[in-house]
Amino acid sequence: MAQSSQIPSSPIPVKPLLRTLAGLPSERPPLWLMRQAGRYLPEYRELRAKAGSFLDLCYTPELAAEVTLQPIRRFGFDAAILFADILLIPQALGQGLAFKENEGPVLDAIRGAAELTRLNPQGIHGRLGPVYEAVALIKAALPPDCTLIGFAGAPWTVATYMLEGRGSTDHAAAKTWAFGNPEALSRLIDILVEATVAYLGRQIEAGAEVVQLFDTWAGVLPEAEFRRFCLEPVRRIIAAVKEKYPGVPVIAFPRGAGVLLDGYAAATGADALGLDYTVPLGWARDRLWPKTVVQGNLDPRLLVVGGQAMADGVHRLLQSFQGRNHIFNLGHGIVPETPVRHVEDLVRLVKGSAVSA
Ligand code: CP3
Repeated sequence: MAQSSQIPSSPIPVKPLLRTLAGLPSERPPLWLMRQAGRYLPEYRELRAKAGSFLDLCYTPELAAEVTLQPIRRFGFDAAILFADILLIPQALGQGLAFKENEGPVLDAIRGAAELTRLNPQGIHGRLGPVYEAVALIKAALPPDCTLIGFAGAPWTVATYMLEGRGSTDHAAAKTWAFGNPEALSRLIDILVEATVAYLGRQIEAGAEVVQLFDTWAGVLPEAEFRRFCLEPVRRIIAAVKEKYPGVPVIAFPRGAGVLLDGYAAATGADALGLDYTVPLGWARDRLWPKTVVQGNLDPRLLVVGGQAMADGVHRLLQSFQGRNHIFNLGHGIVPETPVRHVEDLVRLVKGSAVSA
């Protein structure tokens, strides 16, 4: 029999995050935190001051790698997430972007459908080259048990910033496109799907072992628009990534999707579902598990408060998903005022020790 025609069985992963994503049992959930690199860490603030700006950090491979590795050295998390931002894609497509102190991102808002022709998904890699270099540097420096996560924003969330020009609370511009000119919004989403597939592919080729799609504003649309502009583009991205890189797990984080999380993983092909902190644990257990690996969902404010309140939250979460395929994480990113000591406590709790007084 021709041995060469046999497909080799895929190896059993040894890294804790990859094992959980593969559905294998573990003694404790793998642990990483969204926004684990950032302003709550004094060593980040120091490097950020030296670099000058947030975007300089993102586009200088050595600095982006160093910032990614800081929380790994300090806390021994089971995964590192590439230090970059979801808004690098609009910038790579040709849109003006700046991060203003105390104001967040500011983009040259797209005012009408005619401006979409200026966006060039084929030209993104020139600008994003340093990000891929950072991925390779991080991969080479990671401890052997630590998994490297690449990421991108989901098209709807990225589109909200491109159309609004900044963060917003009501998403008036993006929703006006969704309801008033859905064909034009679809064209923008198509551009973002193409760019995101290419971007994630290059991250994977440079060394990312898992990718996460952040859909921070998935929770602001009614069902029909959610399906068209959030779910369907994520499904297309995952299908394209899986076609080329079938072994690479994808985590989707449709924040605020609520009951629309039910069936989302099956419909999109995501290997795991990030849960925001409003998702009830019992509901998640009954409706999502055992079909889906879940990630989350401690309220980041509990990490600021710390002490017994945080310990109780951690224990509830650990108990709810005990023996199940759970990745321990927050229900949204760490906030800058989080005391480092509380993160140390959290790590001890999840890894099995007692909380400090
Ligand atoms: O550690 C990590 O999680 C990796 C790096 C990362 C950043 N942003 C770094 C960052 C990741 C994964 C993101 C994702 C991101 N960026 C999202 C989706 C996740 C979420 O939090 O909802 C969104 C919506 C953005 C866009 C963005 N970037 C905003 C709105 C802001 C301003 C708000 C803020 O927190 O300052 C940013 C800036 C940003 N991105 C910082 C960091 C560390 C702070 C920049 C600084 O140092 O001043």
